[in-house]
Amino acid sequence: MTIQERKTALVFGGARGIGAAAVRRLAKDGYDVAFTYVSRPDSAKSLMTEIEEGGRRAVSIQADSADAEAIRAAVAKTVDAFGLIDAIVVNAGILRLNTVEAVRLEELDLMIDVNIRGVFLSIQSAVPHMKDGGRVITIGSNTAERTGMAGTSVYQFSKAAVAAMVKGLALDLATRRITVNNIQPGPTNTDMNAGAIEMLSDRSPLKRVANPDEIAGMVSYLAGPDTSFMTGASLTIDGGWTL
Ligand SMILES: NC(=O)c1ccc[n+]([C@@H]2O[C@H](COP(=O)([O-])OP(=O)(O)OC[C@H]3O[C@@H](n4cnc5c(N)ncnc54)[C@H](OP(=O)(O)O)[C@@H]3O)[C@@H](O)[C@H]2O)c1
Repeated sequence: MTIQERKTALVFGGARGIGAAAVRRLAKDGYDVAFTYVSRPDSAKSLMTEIEEGGRRAVSIQADSADAEAIRAAVAKTVDAFGLIDAIVVNAGILRLNTVEAVRLEELDLMIDVNIRGVFLSIQSAVPHMKDGGRVITIGSNTAERTGMAGTSVYQFSKAAVAAMVKGLALDLATRRITVNNIQPGPTNTDMNAGAIEMLSDRSPLKRVANPDEIAGMVSYLAGPDTSFMTGASLTIDGGWTL
């Protein structure tokens, strides 16, 4: 395979949870993968080694998605390593649960900075370095549609913003045949739900939460050739939670 034929991806927030599952799946699908992390250098290093041992190139980059310069630098490092990018997955996100009386200004700002502003800036920074016909995939949340739980208002509106954002971006990028789609997972077995898996499983129609690999399967689908006519869509994968 020549360098031009190699497929390349950049995952924002790829060292653990859903992002790490996406990194593994994209590597399995034949991508060289760069990914960012902010707090888990050890997880990032071991995932990089795992991907390289599997025969793909991997680059891990420390970059806070609340920091516009760090995002730009992460894209630049990816381009230095791989050249043009085929697919980006904007997965980095945070959840702070608090009812309206208790939400602190810092946590409001942080959720907006990472879950909304960081998503937009990641896409804006990467797009000039993407191939025409490339794929932009965001990780939103089924809470954009329905939460059913107190304490999630900020998280919920941040993810609703992502669902709205992909529609405008899809039109902006249509002339380059770059598709922009949003995955809306329901409760998934990651650190984000530590201590709540049993409660969430009980409340789910399928009586379990998702495995991160199931969300990564949808990343693979959206990155692949079968979705070239899908853009601006939000796809919910939540075991019937929002029905
Ligand atoms: N788990 C669920 O039930 C669920 C459901 C719906 C949607 N989601 C969404 O799925 C995405 C991944 O969540 P997860 O469940 O895998 O959660 P997680 O295990 O808590 O992982 C969070 C990910 O986001 C990264 N991240 C957090 N803050 C960041 C920042 N400031 N800059 C860069 N990266 C940052 C983390 O990087 P480090 O590892 O370096 O800290 C990590 O990769 C999030 O957008 C989340 O909102 C999750």
